[in-house]
Amino acid sequence: MTTSNDRPPEARHRPVLLQRCLDLLGPALHGRDAVAVDCTLGLGGHSEALLTAFPALRLIALDRDPAALELAGERLAPHGDRATLVHAVYDELPAVLARLGVASVAGVLFDLGVSSMQLDEADRGFAYAQDAPLDMRMDQSAGPSAADVLNTYPAGELVRGLPHYGEERFARRIVDAVVRERAREPITTSARLVALIREALPQAAMRTGGNPAKRTFQALRIEVNGELASLERAAPAALDALAVGGRIVVLSYQSLEDRLVKRALAEGARSTAPAGLPVVPEQYQPRLRLLTRGAELPTPRLLYTSPSPRDRQKSRMPSSA
Ligand SMILES: C[S@@+](CC[C@H](N)C(=O)[O-])C[C@H]1O[C@@H](n2cnc3c(N)ncnc32)[C@H](O)[C@@H]1O
Repeated sequence: MTTSNDRPPEARHRPVLLQRCLDLLGPALHGRDAVAVDCTLGLGGHSEALLTAFPALRLIALDRDPAALELAGERLAPHGDRATLVHAVYDELPAVLARLGVASVAGVLFDLGVSSMQLDEADRGFAYAQDAPLDMRMDQSAGPSAADVLNTYPAGELVRGLPHYGEERFARRIVDAVVRERAREPITTSARLVALIREALPQAAMRTGGNPAKRTFQALRIEVNGELASLERAAPAALDALAVGGRIVVLSYQSLEDRLVKRALAEGARSTAPAGLPVVPEQYQPRLRLLTRGAELPTPRLLYTSPSPRDRQKSRMPSSA
């Protein structure tokens, strides 16, 4: 069963913090030959706004989900060859840019996680509120599904995975229930998994923190899609792809992603000078300048810019906002 898929993409999803993203990326995108990368195209909301706001911009947009590329492709068609859509996992960014002959870019945007389209389509298995086969692959042509993970991973790996990814306090109870159930019969649907989680958790835990299946579903999704490993490679790759004066904006929705991106940004915003130098020579100056201090609420985000040569002179402090 599907839900709202007959509606056009613009009616199905409002891009998160759209104006703020445009404002932050904007100063880097006005140039005639500016190229920006949207690493998480989704339904194309941010991409479309970028193409509209910066009429000379060329956009490269990646998504690992072929369905997203198809829908966003239709949406961005009026912009013609200013938009190049690529089916890729975002840690493949360096290879994608090399293939397209792009040496560096003026802006990068990441809007992490799943799209509303993926959540809306019940048969993708992302949503704990709808019964569906446990799939959760953003690219359904590749890799193990959530059911494969649940039914084949050793119990120890599930226990280590759940608290880490889903910050689930009762991981041991949930995994014990999963292991008992899968010995009887493979767990293949989201409704069965939700019922198991409800049976496994103490009553008190059901009264707090929203749907009790939320953390487990998030943990499974992250594992199935290798989300953290991919981001760990993609964040430094995106920073390396930026031209001097280029900007990057990351929208993140959970603490593990948030930490990972913050670490990559903080590393670039630090001087590498040996302690005690009275004047910091150019080669030790930070590569990056942070545009904001920490995350901006309500959606946690991390923002950074690589300094222009002029900024480089000025930025002795690594994170002048
Ligand atoms: C939150 S949505 C993006 C929504 C988009 N900004 C918009 O305005 O419609 C995230 C998208 O990123 C894609 N995605 C997530 N992880 C990815 C990865 N590692 N590589 C490529 N695409 C990824 C998902 O398939 C999904 O379509």
